[in-house]
This record gives sequence, C-alpha cells and structure tokens, in this order.
Amino acid sequence: MEDVNRRLAYWEGPLLAIETSCDETSAAVLDGRSILSNVVSSQVDLHAQWGGIVPEAAARAHIETIGPVVDEAVRAARLEPGRITAVAATSRPGLVGALSVGLTYAKGLAHALRSPFLGVHHLEGHVLSSLACEPAPPFPHVCLVVSGGHTELIQVDAPFRYRLLGQTLDDAAGEAFDKGARLLGLGYPGGKAIEQVAEGGDAKRYPLPRGLSGETADFSFSGLKTALLRLVEREGSRLRIADAAASLQEAIVSVLSERAVQACVRQGLRHLTVVGGVDANRALRARLSVLGEREGVRVFVPDPSLCTDNAAMIGLAASLRLAAGERHGWDLDAQPQAELPGPPKPWDATIGTSV
Ligand code: KG4
Ligand code: ZN
Repeated sequence: MEDVNRRLAYWEGPLLAIETSCDETSAAVLDGRSILSNVVSSQVDLHAQWGGIVPEAAARAHIETIGPVVDEAVRAARLEPGRITAVAATSRPGLVGALSVGLTYAKGLAHALRSPFLGVHHLEGHVLSSLACEPAPPFPHVCLVVSGGHTELIQVDAPFRYRLLGQTLDDAAGEAFDKGARLLGLGYPGGKAIEQVAEGGDAKRYPLPRGLSGETADFSFSGLKTALLRLVEREGSRLRIADAAASLQEAIVSVLSERAVQACVRQGLRHLTVVGGVDANRALRARLSVLGEREGVRVFVPDPSLCTDNAAMIGLAASLRLAAGERHGWDLDAQPQAELPGPPKPWDATIGTSV
C-alpha cells in the first residue's frame, strides 16, 4: 500500500504539543511525523472518589502536573528546550478550566521561545491519530470516533476535509460504558472494568436494546442505560454481574461495529479508522476485524497509547496545520464546544492570527 504520509507535509523541527481538555495531562514532542515522546499523567484515581470527572478538581490537578509533564516530555525526547520550534495545545472542545491550563502554558512557552503557536481541535487530534498507523490509512476513509465524550462517524476525504455521517443523539459510547459500570457497581472509569468482568460472562443472557433501528449512521445509548437500570432493579441480588457486563458490552460493540462498517459500504469506501478511548476494547477490535473482513473493509486502529487522550495526536494535527501555514495569536481562548475545523487559514501578521 502507498505510504500516505509521504504525500503529507508535516512541520519540520521539534514541535511541543499539550493536551488538557479533560482528565489527562499530556505533553508530546514530535519531529515531522515522528513521535519522540508522549507523556500522559492520568487523573483517574483523583476522580474515582467522586465516580466521575469534577471539572474544578481537573483544572487544579492540571495546574499541578503540567510543568513536570512538559519537562518529562522534553527530557524523554532528548532535546534542549531551546530547540523547540513550535508549540501547540488543545483549545477546543472540552472543560474550559482544564483547557485553559494547557492553552495558557503553551502560549507562555511559545512566547518565551518566540515560536509559532497553534490551538488544536481535540476531535481532529483523535481523527488524525490514525496517521501514526503503519502503514497509514489512505484517503478518503471513514473514521469512527468513540470516546467518553464522542461517538461520531466522519468521512475523512483528506486531512482538514471532514463530513459528519452520523453521531450519537444522546450519550457517547464511553459514557454508556461508564454509566453501565456505575449501575453494576464496577466503579469508574467503566470501560476497562466492564471489559474485564465481561470476560467470563454470557452476553446472551440479558438481551439489551440496540437503540435506533434501520439504515442510519446515528447512535442512541440512553435506552440501553434505562434497560440496564430496569434489569438491575428487577433481578436484585440474583443479577449475574458478569453476564450483565457481557450483555452491555455486546450491545455497545455490535451497534458500533455494524454501523461503522455499513457506513463504509454505503459511502463506497474500503478503509475504516477507529480512534478514541473505547477503541482500547478488545471485543470491539475483534468484531470490527470480523465484520470488516466480511465486507471487504480494512480496519486501521492506532496503538492504544494513541487512543486514549494524549498530546501526540494533538501534535500530529498541529504539525499538518502549521506546515500548511496556520497559527494563532495570544488572544485565542478555550471553547467548551466547537465544530470540526475546515481547511487551514493563512496567517495574517498584521493582526497576529490566522483569519
Ligand atoms: O478518549 P478518552 O480517553 O477520553 C475522552 O476524550 O473522552 O476516552 C475515555 C473513555 C471512557 O469512557 C472509558 O470508559 C472508555 O474510554 N474506555 C473503554 C476502555 N478503555 C477506556 N471502553 C471500553 N473498553 C475499554 N477497554
Ligand atoms: Zn478524547
């Protein structure tokens, strides 16, 4: 297969990227497309005591961790900090307090280094994380984004050219795992716990709803949560936790993999990428590979370290945009919500941002 990365222009020289949109503090150093370091400090243990992410606590923890995480990323890349030639950080969407920590830190560094600065869309980072696959997926392809905050099917015609094919109408897939795990008393975060407990379970014991029916690229997981709650109430102490976890996992995995492969077939595309934290789920990976093989769709899955939130994926997106001439001014603010961005905009030196 042709190496797609040969055709893409990446930023030349060491690039530092920062990600703090949710509960992971991460910094990475890239040179071109090579990931020299990717350091991730997770706040999972902090938020576990509350059973979910507390935005205030997340922001405070980022403040404490960002300095050491950036230092570690630069050290692991075996670089003198002064050799960094560009700085990027996730600017949208996400928790505003959390985003602001990484964004402000990145602006400060870029200012001190007199280097270009760029704010990156978190989802674009996930979408382009598949460029780290060997070989990289060709364009156009379909991308299934499955994380704690997102469930989207996107047609990626090329970097920066995205078409939304479908999305969740309520909960994200990761949220469905997390809420399900809470109902089953399996703690937080739920995805990994459900996967482990489900291993010995019978996925057919408790049939659970699959949400929307018919030919659609959208998803709905709220009915699944309600059905699981009813099941827990009905069965009480008779509930077989392993079977309930396996049934829940089966409901989520089957709907995600079927819709994603169907979307490729409908669009006439033979390549599918799967990105985001839920992609760590082995049942999902296995089902996608079976369905993909049956329908003639090749599935690309980045290394698990690039699936959960990390700064290397933000660096890949930043590298392509910076190489295309985009950069931002110091007035760039964190945004809680934002559409996927379009093609890079040219830098206007007179007003100090891309327009
Ligand atoms: O991409 P990510 O790290 O953060 C967001 O941007 O949301 O995804 C986190 C989500 C959580 O909901 C977590 O439960 C889920 O990914 N997750 C999993 C697994 N590992 C993480 N879900 C299912 N199976 C897993 N093994
Ligand atoms: Zn994410």
